Amino acid sequence: MGRFLSRKNLAALVLTGSVAAALGACSSTSAAPGSPAAASVAPVLTGAADGQVLFEQSCASCHGVGGVGSKFTKDNNTIEVPAITFTDLTPVYGDKFDTLAADAIVKGLDETGQPLNRMMPRWTIFSDQQVGDIVAYLKSLK
Ligand code: HEC
Repeated sequence: MGRFLSRKNLAALVLTGSVAAALGACSSTSAAPGSPAAASVAPVLTGAADGQVLFEQSCASCHGVGGVGSKFTKDNNTIEVPAITFTDLTPVYGDKFDTLAADAIVKGLDETGQPLNRMMPRWTIFSDQQVGDIVAYLKSLK
């Protein structure tokens, strides 16, 4: 429940325009709401160490070092970024952790297939291997 409330709050913030613009949200590739997402393929999880490097370069600024989540203020708006460790996401993703985490990262979709808030970039720049490495790293975060 809390997750959905926070998602709504984030959406309200982004509608003001200033937050998304200020953070340089650079995403334009997610499916339109309600349109079917392409079939998901489970990533190959071999490179947690490489995933950690990618995470620290691309994710830690928002999700915190070690994926513990963060909260910051931008233009007087408080922005809450969820914790995304294995422990935090397992209650949400269940036994579909690998594919659902990859869908969140690449397609910006939540566990029900709905778009995540656009504050979360759509990481289409990563190869399948890199996505697998990041997911492996997230799974190592207990
Ligand atoms: C500009 C800030 C930002 C960056 C950088 C960012 N994220 Fe996010 N991410 C968010 C926000 C905000 C949400 C919550 C979106 C929502 O609840 O709709 C989110 C949600 C997620 C989720 C879904 C969590 C859930 O509870 O469903 C995952 C997984 C995730 N991010 C992984 C990553 C990974 C991996 C990276 C780096 C490749 C990354 N994020 C980079 C802001 C960011």
